Amino acid sequence: MKTLRDIELSGKRVLVRVDFNVPMNESGDIADDLRIRTVLPTLHYLLEQRARIILCTHMGRPKGQRVEKFSLAPVAAHLARLLERPVPLAGDCVGPEVVEAAGRLQDGELLMLENLRYHPQEEKNDPVFSRQLAAVADVYINDAFAVSHRAHASVAGVTEYVLEKAAGFLLQKEIEYFHRSMDTPQRPLVAIVGGAKVSGKLEALRNMLERVDKMIIGGAMANTFLKSQGYGVGASKVEDDLLETAAELLRQAKARKVKVYLPVDVIAADRFAPDAVSKQVTIQDIPENWMALDIGPASVICFCEVLADAKTIVWNGPMGAFEMDAFARGTMALAHAVAASHALSVTGGGDSNAAIAQAGEAENISYMSTGGGAFLELMEGKMLPGIKALG
Ligand code: 3PG
Repeated sequence: MKTLRDIELSGKRVLVRVDFNVPMNESGDIADDLRIRTVLPTLHYLLEQRARIILCTHMGRPKGQRVEKFSLAPVAAHLARLLERPVPLAGDCVGPEVVEAAGRLQDGELLMLENLRYHPQEEKNDPVFSRQLAAVADVYINDAFAVSHRAHASVAGVTEYVLEKAAGFLLQKEIEYFHRSMDTPQRPLVAIVGGAKVSGKLEALRNMLERVDKMIIGGAMANTFLKSQGYGVGASKVEDDLLETAAELLRQAKARKVKVYLPVDVIAADRFAPDAVSKQVTIQDIPENWMALDIGPASVICFCEVLADAKTIVWNGPMGAFEMDAFARGTMALAHAVAASHALSVTGGGDSNAAIAQAGEAENISYMSTGGGAFLELMEGKMLPGIKALG
């Protein structure tokens, strides 16, 4: 796979697919600009090379309609501030206006295209739309790891119609860290898997169990594993249809000599609310109508001991309902433990990254992936269409 430095860029029109699908708050401001900042090295390099930069991205899920709240106007304005130069926004992402604006670009200038998903053809990977996107550029760069699991026109189809294509620095970094942590890890390799549902992470759990030495399972998904082992988990969230699958995964782990660590105690609450009545109990003692909303202090000690010995850690998914202060301790403690470990630590998914930021540990993690779904698909062992298309 070619990368930016392998291509002559000076004076060329370069279409850069980025993922600026950033969270917005209610007043329409950007709530977290990580996905914009992480592309800056690529943009600075392109500017140094005097390329003519055409940026394209999706925002939200407008389902092929022009929905004003998904306009990229605030993103273009924010990027202009970060780069300290103008970032004009075209009214669309294809069509005569775009052709004209791209044609007028001078060396070292930028243009941002309006939301790709205003056109239904984007998500259909439509060849005519892909060709239209490609037509304004000499070179295509994918620096949008977080959407590289989607076989969409701007991620996959477009690569068929450009003369040259390569990965940007962010995509390159994402792949490198994932490769170091999952394909050629220093051992022990410990996975921490949490979050709400086993069902969403089944494939990832299966694939990870073939690669890791140890696996910590927390969050609501741990309830399904605990129940599959015969523990009564009260009114906790459980996927009853997956009890046998969970038991089978634990059997497979045992056969492979992978050590799996489940919570030994939890913070149980009488309802799912910030002001719920809560208490710490062993997993044998969860009251009938109560639900587990965080791992307990004994589990924290146990999990932290596992992490202290790790050489590589891959983390996806929180240990509890950390968005409520009363149930954040387990996740925060693990964030501190991962940060303090001597391991190469790689985390992915919006919740894990938000938890690490909340713990004030973002600086102390080796690499925080910008991907949610894309990171999970790598954990599942899949080849992402956007990466394949660059090959
Ligand atoms: C993400 O936020 O995970 C990416 O931007 C992809 O968005 P999507 O799930 O709407 O395709």
